[in-house]
Amino acid sequence: MSKGVLLIGAGGHARSCIDVIESAGLRVFGLIDRDPTMVGGDVLGYPVLGSDCELLKLAKDSSGALITVGQIGRPKIRVSLYEKLTSCGVVPLSVSASTARVSRHASIGNGSIVMHQALVNAGARVGVNCIINTGAIVEHDVEIGDHCHIAIGAVIGGGVRIGAGSFVGAGAIISHGVSIGSNSIIGAGCVVMSDCPAETFMKRSA
Ligand SMILES: CC(C)(COP(=O)(O)OP(=O)(O)OC[C@H]1O[C@@H](n2cnc3c(N)ncnc32)[C@H](O)[C@@H]1OP(=O)(O)O)[C@@H](O)C(=O)NCCC(=O)NCCS
Repeated sequence: MSKGVLLIGAGGHARSCIDVIESAGLRVFGLIDRDPTMVGGDVLGYPVLGSDCELLKLAKDSSGALITVGQIGRPKIRVSLYEKLTSCGVVPLSVSASTARVSRHASIGNGSIVMHQALVNAGARVGVNCIINTGAIVEHDVEIGDHCHIAIGAVIGGGVRIGAGSFVGAGAIISHGVSIGSNSIIGAGCVVMSDCPAETFMKRSA
């Protein structure tokens, strides 16, 4: 029997990821976290096996790894963990929830997770180390670059391009055909109707 997936990051996003991984019929091996005081504890019944210094050893002992550190804003921590893993030959898994709908004509990169009730439609391409969060809609022919987080309930219209390292907040709407440059932050609830350059920062006022 396989040992299961090592989760890297033991916070709130990891808890949602555990539910997705279980729904996909995969086993969880355990977690690691950069906070050494968490080691020896558990998350939803799975052990926190070590801190970041044990990352590579534990990743190699497991049957796959997934970065479960969350991302609000820029993906610095997720990118550095991804690079650390891949530079040592560990290729993170991609996982889709049993309740997600991923078209067989879509592609999902290594280390990316498609969470419950999300839709990734035909012709869409999702890069590596992305989060397509609960209930997000990624319509036909969308291109999402590496290390992006499309947060809960965001709607990405057909043919949209989102550059690498970007964050699209909860419930944001990106109109069909729009391009958003890399390393952008589109805040929760924003509506984007036209192209945005790299490093756009957009926030909805209270
Ligand atoms: C866009 C949003 C993050 C801004 O929140 P904020 O409190 O003003 O900004 P923060 O201080 O938290 O900064 C968030 C990031 O935006 C950057 N930022 C903030 N103001 C900025 C500005 N004027 N220009 C450029 N970048 C800016 C910060 O540097 C930070 O980057 P980092 O991730 O590298 O640290 C917030 O409005 C939002 O939409 N949050 C997401 C909520 C959500 O979707 N939750 C569900 C997640 S599943």
